[in-house]
Amino acid sequence: MRRAVCPGSFDPITNGHLDVIMRASKLFDEVVVAVLINKTKTTLFSVEERMELIQDAIREHPDPAPNVVVESSHGLLVDFCRSRGIQSIVKGLRAVSDFDYELQMAQMNNRLAGVETLFMSTNPQYAFLSSSLVKEVARYGGDVSGLVPDVVLKHLRDRLVQG
Ligand code: PNS
Repeated sequence: MRRAVCPGSFDPITNGHLDVIMRASKLFDEVVVAVLINKTKTTLFSVEERMELIQDAIREHPDPAPNVVVESSHGLLVDFCRSRGIQSIVKGLRAVSDFDYELQMAQMNNRLAGVETLFMSTNPQYAFLSSSLVKEVARYGGDVSGLVPDVVLKHLRDRLVQG
């Protein structure tokens, strides 16, 4: 079985992430979306909330992807890959600015465990998009509809109203 992981913080998932996940699901037998827990980072949504938002976004997507599963992990991504028999990491590349760090991580992950990283060019429609920018725009009342799944839009509004 060819299995890949799409790792990230997903705080929250954006339409750019979703696009990469759905496209990866057509290339692999199974795609595991791994929400990586980084205890040093403050997040807007808890791990459980982020996983639920991803699951809902995939469920509500018009093009079904029954081979996508959502999990969480802490520690090294390569240890997660080893424990699940995952051979490939799929990452979206938005721009050259992503490349240096992504290449460094890809080479380190390959060195640590022989895991391959495949870069998928993001849909140009979402090339400027990041979770941090979405949160910043939403926090100041900007319109992020069309940039995040509808279910995220609703939770983002609720969460930011709560403060
Ligand atoms: O969405 P993000 O925050 O850009 O994703 C980065 C992430 C979580 C994929 C990356 O930081 C990661 O793989 N973290 C897990 C810890 C790890 O394996 N670190 C060594 C990377 S070479």
